[in-house]
Amino acid sequence: MKICFLMIILLIITLNVLGTLSQCFDYPNPLKKSYKIPVECPLQQNSVKFDSLSQLTQPNNENMIVLTFNCGIKNDILCNKAKNAFETAGKILSSVLLINTPIQLNASFLDFCTSLGECPNGSGLIILGGATPARTIPLQDDDGLVRLYPQALVKQFQFKQHPAYGPFDIMALFNAGGTSFWFEGDPPITRNQQDFLYVVLHEIVHGLGFASGWEDYMNDQPKALTPEILITGKDPSEQFKFNGFLESAFDRYLIHIPTGKKISALTGDINKFQKEVGIIFENDIDFVTKFRNSPQYKIAEEMMSYSITPNALGFLPRGTTKAIESVVLETRLQPYQTGSSISHVDFKKYNNTSDFLMKFLADHGANLDSLITSHNGNNNAGYNAIIGPNLKLVLETLGYSTPEYTNPYKPSVTIIGNGNDFNPTMSIPIEPGDSSTNNGKGSNEKSGGIKTYKTNFKVIFIINLLSLIKIHLL
Ligand SMILES: *[C@@H]1O[C@H](CO)[C@@H](O)[C@H](O)[C@H]1NC(C)=O
Ligand SMILES: *[C@@H]1O[C@H](CO)[C@@H](O)[C@H](O)[C@H]1NC(C)=O
Ligand SMILES: *[C@@H]1O[C@H](CO)[C@@H](O)[C@H](O)[C@H]1NC(C)=O
Ligand SMILES: *[C@@H]1O[C@H](CO)[C@@H](O)[C@H](O)[C@H]1NC(C)=O
Ligand SMILES: [Zn+2]
Repeated sequence: MKICFLMIILLIITLNVLGTLSQCFDYPNPLKKSYKIPVECPLQQNSVKFDSLSQLTQPNNENMIVLTFNCGIKNDILCNKAKNAFETAGKILSSVLLINTPIQLNASFLDFCTSLGECPNGSGLIILGGATPARTIPLQDDDGLVRLYPQALVKQFQFKQHPAYGPFDIMALFNAGGTSFWFEGDPPITRNQQDFLYVVLHEIVHGLGFASGWEDYMNDQPKALTPEILITGKDPSEQFKFNGFLESAFDRYLIHIPTGKKISALTGDINKFQKEVGIIFENDIDFVTKFRNSPQYKIAEEMMSYSITPNALGFLPRGTTKAIESVVLETRLQPYQTGSSISHVDFKKYNNTSDFLMKFLADHGANLDSLITSHNGNNNAGYNAIIGPNLKLVLETLGYSTPEYTNPYKPSVTIIGNGNDFNPTMSIPIEPGDSSTNNGKGSNEKSGGIKTYKTNFKVIFIINLLSLIKIHLL
């Protein structure tokens, strides 16, 4: 039995009880196998004086995304162009969002193949870039679940006391080899070129928290999805103590569109596993075996089936209880694609809309400006329009303030418990949506879409490296 439990081994944490959870996770270099490191993050006083906080809200145009840039190529002109694109991306996000605490971005621009051994393998797949929160921090949500919040967002909450922060909020890597990026000021973009700014913005948005924690952490070929698995103990090969399944901040808003059911209800149910089976396991294999034989495994399989059924999963934004108004997520990919499925918007629905930024395939042969114009018609907002109305809603729902929405939801630093008292019926019922227009034909449509890209161009995937790492572990 081959298991990708290496990942979980890396999740060994030393917390005692949830109440004193001072455990965060760092993702220092997402391309390295040590992809997630548990770190102590005890509560600290906010170093920013409170009465000055309101003044921190940036004046328009100030870039609140502070860049630490490593250029790994020997081409100063190219390095500078890349750096300018980060500057532009920072300004766009700083004017669409109200960022009260600067966001620290560590971005590297290097040839993945020569520098990281991450080479195209003949399938024509090229990774353009990837980003992940540099640290995720568990916070208590008001529905009874503890969720992992990206540090960039936790900072915006301005807690008087907050879990210790790492030096960076977002880690990002961009591939200088294998593809030809187009930069502002270059001659007109050619068919196979990719606007660098587009890729940078897409990745930063993942780093801000546009990412689900649902993944198959147990099987080589994805079959069953769970939230992240937390275990404690010094050596998981000897014995480990299971501490439950943890969603990401994004997952709080996932719904099953046809029924209007909250996906967090599944997390609540999956978390009954430890009540029935216990929390001590001989080792990882023991854990996986027992989980596979438990009734909770069926729930994980159910979640897998949602993730490959078109129109099955949506992100329910603030201000609505109608599933039909949810932001439809990418669940057309067959088979399930780690890093592409769920954590992107539905390609088919949004490709031709102003919310195209967070689809899983990047556009080529058109720069951002012309893409915005062709998707928005008359474009008065300039580059800012790249954050489409639905994406903006998602970010506001996650907890980011915008000039139009200054008082978003805020979770709590004080951890009470995870899931045992999650009660989906406590929340307002969600009006089910309609999935009848799809009839499960998504796989055909999808592969058709991919083929189009494949035959004409290199297939270009943007993959969240957080998940991409899994591919390398297997
Ligand atoms: C930024 O991240 C890279 C790893 O991707 C690391 O090597 C580098 O030291 C970091 N930069 C700083 C200033 O810490
Ligand atoms: C290339 O990599 C992709 C994704 O990592 C994988 O699906 C494919 O099987 C690989 N192809 C070869 C020839 O190794
Ligand atoms: C997606 O949108 C791009 C324009 O941004 C267009 O060129 C392409 O044909 C569209 N693809 C599909 C499958 O609709
Ligand atoms: C999207 O636009 C492209 C042309 O830009 C067109 O070929 C495609 O059919 C459109 N897709 C949908 C779903 O409307
Ligand atoms: Zn992506």
